[in-house]
Order: sequence, then C-alpha cells, then structure tokens
Amino acid sequence: MVGLFSRMVVGITVRMPRWFVGWVSRRYVAGPTLADATKVMQRLSKEGSCFTIDVLGEEITTMDEATFFLEEYKRVITVITENKLDANLSIKPTAFGLLLDSEKGMENIEALVTMANNHDMFVRLDMEDHRVTDDTIQVMLDMHEKGLTNVGVVLQARLFRTIDDIKSIAQKLGPNADYRICKGIYLEPSEISHTDRQPIIKATNACIDEMLDAGAYVGIASHDHPVINHALEALSSRGMGPNGLDPRTNSGKERIGKGPGYEFQMLLGVRGPLRRKLRAKGHPTRVYIPYGEKWYEYSIRRLKENPTIGTQVAKAFMMPWTNRP
Ligand code: FDA
Repeated sequence: MVGLFSRMVVGITVRMPRWFVGWVSRRYVAGPTLADATKVMQRLSKEGSCFTIDVLGEEITTMDEATFFLEEYKRVITVITENKLDANLSIKPTAFGLLLDSEKGMENIEALVTMANNHDMFVRLDMEDHRVTDDTIQVMLDMHEKGLTNVGVVLQARLFRTIDDIKSIAQKLGPNADYRICKGIYLEPSEISHTDRQPIIKATNACIDEMLDAGAYVGIASHDHPVINHALEALSSRGMGPNGLDPRTNSGKERIGKGPGYEFQMLLGVRGPLRRKLRAKGHPTRVYIPYGEKWYEYSIRRLKENPTIGTQVAKAFMMPWTNRP
C-alpha cells in the first residue's frame, strides 16, 4: 500500500512543472549557488549546528565535469574559511571522475583533500550504490596511507557487508576511522541487503555499536526515533555524551589526535525540531546542505531511486507536524 502510494507521488511529481519541483525542493536544497548555501549556514549557525556541504551532481560523463566539481569545492573551502563557518565537505568520488579515469579521479580527490587538510577541514566521502562501495572505501584508505587523515567514509547499514567493513577498517585505521553511518538511500537487491524497515533499523543500531566499540568517530545520520534513541543509549552506556568525551569539530586543534567522538547528522529541511532538541541537550549536530545548479536533476533522481522519499515529502507538506524544517 505504502509502496503504491509512493510510486503514485513520484509519478505525479516527475510530471509537474519545474517551478513546482523547485518550490517543494526549496526546503531540502539551499539553492543553486554557493552564496545560497552560505546564507543558510549563517542562518542555522544561530541554532548551534555545524554543517557539511554537498555540491549537487553525480554520474558525470566527462572529465571536464570532474574539473568543475574540484574547482567548485575549492571555492567552498575558501568561503567556509573566510566566513569562519563550522563546516566540512561531503563529496561523491564519482563526481571527481573515479569511474571515468580512476588515476585522474584519485588525483582530483587528493588535490581537494590536501587543500582541505591545509585548512584543517574534514572531507566526507558520500557513499553511492553498491557498485562503488569497494572503490569508495579504498579511496579513503589510500588517502590515509598518504598521511591525509582528514577523510572519512559513509557506510550504509542496510548492506549485509557493512559490519565486516567496519571490522576491516578498524584493523587498518584504528581510532583514525571516522564514519557517517546511515541506513542507505539506494534500494539495493535483497541478495546483498536488508529490505524491510525493522531489519534495517536493527542493522543500523548494530553498526553504531560496532563503530563506537572500535573507538571510531561516528556521525549518526538518521532522523528515525528508534535509531536516535538507540544511539543515545549506546553513547550513555559508554560514558559518552554532552558531559563525557569532547567530540571533534573541524577546527584544527581538536581534530588532531581525535579520539572517540560522535555527532548527530540530519538533512536540511528534515526534522529540525528533533535536531534542535538534541542540540539543546548538548549533543553535537551537523546539517547536510546540498546546493547547486543541478537541483532539479538531483530532486528527480532521488525520487526515482527511492520512491519512499516521495511519501515522506508529501507527508511533510500535508501533515507538517510530523516533520518541520
Ligand atoms: P526514515 O527514512 O525512517 O526517516 C524517518 C523520518 O524522517 C521520516 O518518516 C520522515 O518524516 C523524515 N525523513 C527522512 N528522510 C526524509 C527526506 N529525504 N525527506 C523528507 N523527510 C524525510 N544515504 C546514502 O546511501 N549515502 C550517503 O552518503 C548518505 N548521506 C546522508 C547524510 C546525512 C546527513 C543523512 C541524514 C542521510 C544520508 N543518507 C545517505 C540517507 C540515509 O541513508 C537515509 O536514506 C535517510 O536518512 C532516511 O533514513 P532515516 O534513518 O532518516 O529514517
């Protein structure tokens, strides 16, 4: 029933005029330009949150597009630094050319991570679908090997392999491992992933425990109460929390020698009151801020990839009490 409704919402939305999609996505995307993202960060800074910036676009077809992303993210570093914003970067390795020309793609990523490192800034490798899981993890390991420890990866709890990935990364990086753990937005085949809600929640909670026990830095990226409640208990049972260990920020002094730490991460426009409640209790929170000219393509692709987003967005507009920005 939910599946049918979701597909119906997607079917209607993709036929709607661009202005309508723009009106809906305004809540979830900062705007087409870096100036728009900067304004959103300056506004939300007052709520005590920090940020991660995503320049929209993926699945590029030429290396010129990869150069565009490199240059745009360099501008992001400059603007974050000039405006003294507490923000880091979220990048998609494929947008830097990893699948088109792996050598040049790696060079592009290394150039960005090096510049970020010089500004004491962290770079998160967003995780795309299962075809690039190995490559993405490898990029992170290669960067650490080169001494660039300001890089961490996203892992998707819905994939069966993720618990083993955490164990294997822990062996290689120890407490230098820095994750974002999320359920995973891509609807992966049932041979390699959980597909039902409860097993996905259970797997997400198990990954959070595994990461915390390994002493890694954990970005808990979820808006779902059973995950957040589990994370709060998991932190408190390990003596972590607002009055416990001081978590890392991307300011230089604290990033060096980072130990176990955590933060809650949420998407722009989703469950703001919950994020503000966590912040008010002293938990570090980070908002994921996408911006870019490709906002339309991004919105439509996300809806097609995972139709349940259509339901969530429709619910947010029709029943605003369930999800305020
Ligand atoms: P769930 O989907 O159950 O959402 C709980 C509630 O939150 C919903 O009922 C709804 O009210 C609201 N909600 C959640 N998502 C919404 C949306 N998009 N629009 C409107 N309302 C929404 N995935 C991935 O594969 N690779 C990645 O790199 C990332 N990166 C990432 C960064 C950050 C900061 C976040 C928060 C999430 C991601 N994700 C991701 C997405 C993640 O995998 C997952 O798909 C979403 O967070 C939704 O899962 P929840 O745990 O929030 O639960």
